[in-house]
Amino acid sequence: MTDDRPEQPSESSVTDAAPADAQTLWHGRFADGPSDALLAFSVSLDFDRRLAADDLDGSRAHVAMLAEVGLINGDERAAIVDALATVEEEIATGEFVFVPTDEDIHTAVERRVAEIAGPAGAKLHTGRSRNDQITTDLRLFIRREGRAQIRRLLDLQAVLVQRAQEAGDAYLPGYTHLQRAQPVLLAHHLLAHFWALSRDVSRWWDALERLDVSPLGAGALAGSSLPLDPDLTAKALGFQFRFANSLDAVGDRDYVAECLFVLALSQVHLSRIGEEITLWASDEFGFVHLADAFSTGSSMMPQKKNPDIAELARGKAGRLIGNLTGFLATLKGLPLAYNRDLQEDKEPLFDAMDQHARTLDALTGLLATIEFDVERMQAAADGAAVAATDLAEHLVVEGVPFRDAHAIVGKLVRQSIERGIPLSELVETEPTLGRDALPLLEPGAAVRRRTTPGGGGPGPVAVQLVAAQAKLADERARLVD
Ligand code: ARG
Repeated sequence: MTDDRPEQPSESSVTDAAPADAQTLWHGRFADGPSDALLAFSVSLDFDRRLAADDLDGSRAHVAMLAEVGLINGDERAAIVDALATVEEEIATGEFVFVPTDEDIHTAVERRVAEIAGPAGAKLHTGRSRNDQITTDLRLFIRREGRAQIRRLLDLQAVLVQRAQEAGDAYLPGYTHLQRAQPVLLAHHLLAHFWALSRDVSRWWDALERLDVSPLGAGALAGSSLPLDPDLTAKALGFQFRFANSLDAVGDRDYVAECLFVLALSQVHLSRIGEEITLWASDEFGFVHLADAFSTGSSMMPQKKNPDIAELARGKAGRLIGNLTGFLATLKGLPLAYNRDLQEDKEPLFDAMDQHARTLDALTGLLATIEFDVERMQAAADGAAVAATDLAEHLVVEGVPFRDAHAIVGKLVRQSIERGIPLSELVETEPTLGRDALPLLEPGAAVRRRTTPGGGGPGPVAVQLVAAQAKLADERARLVD
């Protein structure tokens, strides 16, 4: 779903009407065809057909290289290129007919090219193995889809910046241990999530840079006796580098694990946003009201309005963490080089990509339309005790050591609770504080006093907002490059 290219045909286009000569790629060596059980167990076409566009790109680069080094002639090259174009068209329109022996997308494309181009088509796979082919396809796929994920992350970040800007000087309690701690601007809170997502974007760029290596030309595992030129295919596919070691090229899936980590951690960030929205939407907090279009009702309880998007954002984090840990477990025992276990890379990757993309879209809509109940937030932040740190810091400015100041104010808070006396009264009669300290207890005073760089008051938040906007603009520009 993160793929901008046309939908791949559905499973229904797999037909039993296999051409009479349909056969496996290894039919020469085998007297018998594959059992139904083997086919059902090992076929990856259901999910790897999603790589069709990348597989075709890889094949075009490979064919160009074969012609360049003289392994096929110009006519053969033209015939294969034409056949690849036909296959692309057939897949795009849904006319492509898959047959039961199409174990994976590579097999399907190669079979069809051979049907269309005849003997020239049978030269397509010269010097190539599905082992270097699949990992080439997957790198191309992630290169494209990773950018689509970045675009979505930036869209969500843009909404956070927008809402932070609109929030102005509105404030709420900041929490530690989920206990009211010190007030901060709502903008500050929203931007905290912005920076977490910014690190996700940065992790994507890192991951994309590391996977920018072409494995094509590694063959099954050891390179080739044919005069292949892997640099040519790397260049044609727009990879910055080619592999240095053919065993590593076909056996490496670090880049998949890394993407799964980037996705899992990013989903954890979305989960934390989801958790907060869920809390904030409760009657107990009452800090937000969700738009109808981004909340759900109950089938039984007419009064309910539920934050399902926020909860699913949270719930799906478990699934993405599972995708990562499951795949790491797949990798951990594999000897070099290619092992069929590696086919298990695609489903967790596709799933994590799709779930993350859907979460980003839904949360972006939710946050764009959420209504902040600023009155409730501010009332919660205006409790006198929230200014306790400021009272202690007031004493520090008067020369009282901070530990002593902490104890003085702590005692006043305890007395206020135990004796049911407003803190302001106790502050007024406390000799070290007195009337001078009372303005600290006024609504909004504590937040205005948070003036240090990166802090939660209006001054530093204004600076932070400009930095966030600049960061967003930089990342958008990088994406266009
Ligand atoms: N479907 C396989 C995968 O995803 C393609 C490579 C198969 N290679 C092989 N030697 N069976 O890994």
